[in-house]
Amino acid sequence: KLKIATIGGGSSYTPELIEGFIKRKDVLPIKEIWLVDIEEGKEKLEIVGAMAQRMVKAAGLDWEVHLTLDRREALKDADFVSTQFRVGLLDARIKDERIPLSHGILGQETNGAGGMFKAFRTIPVILGIVEDMKELCPDAWLVNFTNPSGMVTEAVMRYGNWNKVVGLCNVPIVCRKIAAGGLNTTEDQLTFKFAGLNHFHWHRVWDREGNEQTQYLLDNIYATEDGMSVAMGNVMSGLGKGEKDEAMSDSGVKNIPMISFLKDQVKDLHIIPCMYHRYYYITDDMLQEEIESYKEGKTRAEEVKRTEARLFELYKDPNLDYKPEELGQRGGTYYSDAACELISAIHNDSRVEMVVSTKNNGAVPDLPSDCVVEVNAVIRSSGPQPISWGRFEPSTRGLLELMKDMELTTIEAAYTGNYGKALQAFTINPLVPSGKIAKTLLDEMLVAHKKHLPQF
Ligand code: NAD
Ligand code: G6P
Ligand code: MN
Ligand code: MN
Repeated sequence: KLKIATIGGGSSYTPELIEGFIKRKDVLPIKEIWLVDIEEGKEKLEIVGAMAQRMVKAAGLDWEVHLTLDRREALKDADFVSTQFRVGLLDARIKDERIPLSHGILGQETNGAGGMFKAFRTIPVILGIVEDMKELCPDAWLVNFTNPSGMVTEAVMRYGNWNKVVGLCNVPIVCRKIAAGGLNTTEDQLTFKFAGLNHFHWHRVWDREGNEQTQYLLDNIYATEDGMSVAMGNVMSGLGKGEKDEAMSDSGVKNIPMISFLKDQVKDLHIIPCMYHRYYYITDDMLQEEIESYKEGKTRAEEVKRTEARLFELYKDPNLDYKPEELGQRGGTYYSDAACELISAIHNDSRVEMVVSTKNNGAVPDLPSDCVVEVNAVIRSSGPQPISWGRFEPSTRGLLELMKDMELTTIEAAYTGNYGKALQAFTINPLVPSGKIAKTLLDEMLVAHKKHLPQF
């Protein structure tokens, strides 16, 4: 019987996780779920935790759902530890977005300076969790959702010396839905292959007959506004052959605005970009859009704060015992499918294929073998076994290598607290201009986040 510990249990996403476990009740012999949070998250934990208890009860299950601020008690003898915490909560994300934007620089949760600071704040905490795990649950798997998910996973392996870790994200799931919508079919009729980094991967698609549909999707869906809206219209309305899915948005995920890629450039990629590539391929357009939101006090973090307040009002209702529609307003929809499916696949040695952040081991030969990549992998009880992708074209390869090196530099700065290394990471990140402005921005953000950066 399984003991699962979820760190950051007060997250508004928790009902999705619980729903995912309930859906898999026949293959997941759960005994206990421990939702862990910290003092600042206590109220959220109590509200959403009570909701989780109602959901389990309504499903007729005898699982124990414990709420605690004592992480060690939760980790003791756990089989799986999932992480969904946000160091500094949404107020820190607001700073990650607004401070760069105040200098006319992109501000985003997992990209550019904001994403790097999220790594700086998160990595010391995750490494503390790993130290506790070594002592309290040395055989457990760590299922990481905490962003930047790829960098956090890499830090756990590289500096925590903990290999039983898998990084997850909902974006590959959403990419599959876009393809199904664009080809007017269902996902199960298609075969996918993904490779790259978290929030920076590309994919290829084949139909039932084995014909590759990648270029068709690039030419007819990704290169045109109309194509994209037809595909997403199919997904959202359930027109066509797919299932109705209102939690999607025009770009795929709710947190990224739909702005068209450059037609000729995107067609020439020959592999399909994820939605986050917009920040790199059409930086100017994305920045303009973000600046507008910034001026109106509507950065994504500020919007999420309002959504979260509404969600917690709903969760307070003692009669609510299912995941409300409103949670579909968050960008991380489907995240529980990934987490619960992964836990089930490891527990049951099911050998299903999933897209995960894991050690490369040669699957992407353009990147070092020992670094973390996001790729298709066969999930066994021994963990993910990545599937070979092959080489990237020069147009893609350079950027991919740069981004991996930027991640490695960021992680090293987060671990050591080396100021020069942090400035180096800012300098090489394509979304942060180099020179005096990089230093000004770095210094301002170090002061703003001081409380959560003991290493600097
Ligand atoms: P949130 O702001 O609601 O934070 C979740 C909880 O974490 C809060 O209750 C908070 O009190 C708690 N917390 C903060 N520091 C903690 C610590 N040291 N120990 C334990 N708990 C702590 O965040 P959210 O919007 O629910 O997102 C949670 C995390 O998951 C974020 O890092 C977010 O980026 C990530 N996320 C990732 C994906 C993905 O695709 N990988 C999808 C959705 C969310
Ligand atoms: C995406 C990403 C997540 C990210 C989230 C943001 O789908 O995959 O990694 O955390 O959306 O959503 P939010 O609602 O918090 O802006
Ligand atoms: Mn993600
Ligand atoms: Mn730079």
